[in-house]
Amino acid sequence: MQLPKHVKMVEVGPRDGLQNESGVVSTEVKIRLIDQLADAGLKWIEAGSFVSPKRVPQMADTAQVMAGIKRSEGVHYGVLTPNMQGFEAAVAAGVDEVAIFAAATETFSQKNLNCSIDQSFERFAPVCKAARVAGIPVRGYISCVLGCPYEGDVMPKVVADVAGRLVKMGCREISLGDTIGAGTPASAQAMIEAVSQVVGVEYLAAHFHDTYGQALANILAVLQQGVAVIDSSVGGLGGCPYATGATGNVASEDVLYMLDGLGVQTGVDLKALSEAGRFICFELGRPSASKVSLAMAGRRNR
Ligand code: HMG
Ligand code: MG
Repeated sequence: MQLPKHVKMVEVGPRDGLQNESGVVSTEVKIRLIDQLADAGLKWIEAGSFVSPKRVPQMADTAQVMAGIKRSEGVHYGVLTPNMQGFEAAVAAGVDEVAIFAAATETFSQKNLNCSIDQSFERFAPVCKAARVAGIPVRGYISCVLGCPYEGDVMPKVVADVAGRLVKMGCREISLGDTIGAGTPASAQAMIEAVSQVVGVEYLAAHFHDTYGQALANILAVLQQGVAVIDSSVGGLGGCPYATGATGNVASEDVLYMLDGLGVQTGVDLKALSEAGRFICFELGRPSASKVSLAMAGRRNR
């Protein structure tokens, strides 16, 4: 099996995970979580988003979160910025990376960003320009790459077109979101095949939600195609406020256990990562969605 030697793990739990929580998670708990994730060896952590607090109230304290974390050496703290208002707030907060987020379908774009795909690109253009001037790297997300909650199947070519536009605009990484977790290894590989014909595979990140329990299998499938950036969420937290029923991202602990077993380097420590997962699940008052975390806890209790 051909696999990358090293995988960049991007931890999206504090953003993608906590944005979907019905209860309020305090700023202090978010800060402790992010610091624990950094201590576990994660070098890319999405700390929050600068979006409308009316639309996503869970992320309204992102500036305070950024101000409170300890800013570990070598760790890149990123946030979502859908427009210039978000970008300016992100710069003021001293982020290391910003992310713009597009969709592969018109309906999802309307629901998530309140505008068409073309209009979203009009809003992203000044963000990319300002980021270039400020020397801040831009990540580009695409939602619904393997299916849309409103429009159903999505053609790989459509995803490839959006990816091409994002790279042309200046994104240095394209995170391909299976927002509703509907993909299988075959559809994931077909999508990566199409996208990598337009932008190099070295740009691509897999951002797979685990709604149908396929995420790990899909990750293994795309690793074999050369994808070497994997997004995941500690404890399998989360979902998307605009994709009802979608569960969290694949659990970071489960991804790491698989990568460790495959001999792929990540620089992340499984024990410390699962402690961070246990901390946030305790704070949320529910069990982890990570199978690895549950198995490790079971072993400890025997
Ligand atoms: P809009 O609704 O088009 O309207 O916003 P607007 O630009 O005219 O602004 C309306 C109000 O929002 C105004 O406030 C603005 O100030 C405010 P009001 O006058 O009503 O008091 N506003 C902002 N406030 C703070 N920061 C901002 C900002 N921009 C406007 N940056 C907007 C467009 C995108 C902001 C809005 O629709 C929004 O916030 N949507 C939520 C998007 C979101 O966070 N979705 C979840 C994350 S994406 C995701 O989870 C998928 C992903 O994980 C990949 C995957 O799995 O697929 C990335
Ligand atoms: Mg997501």
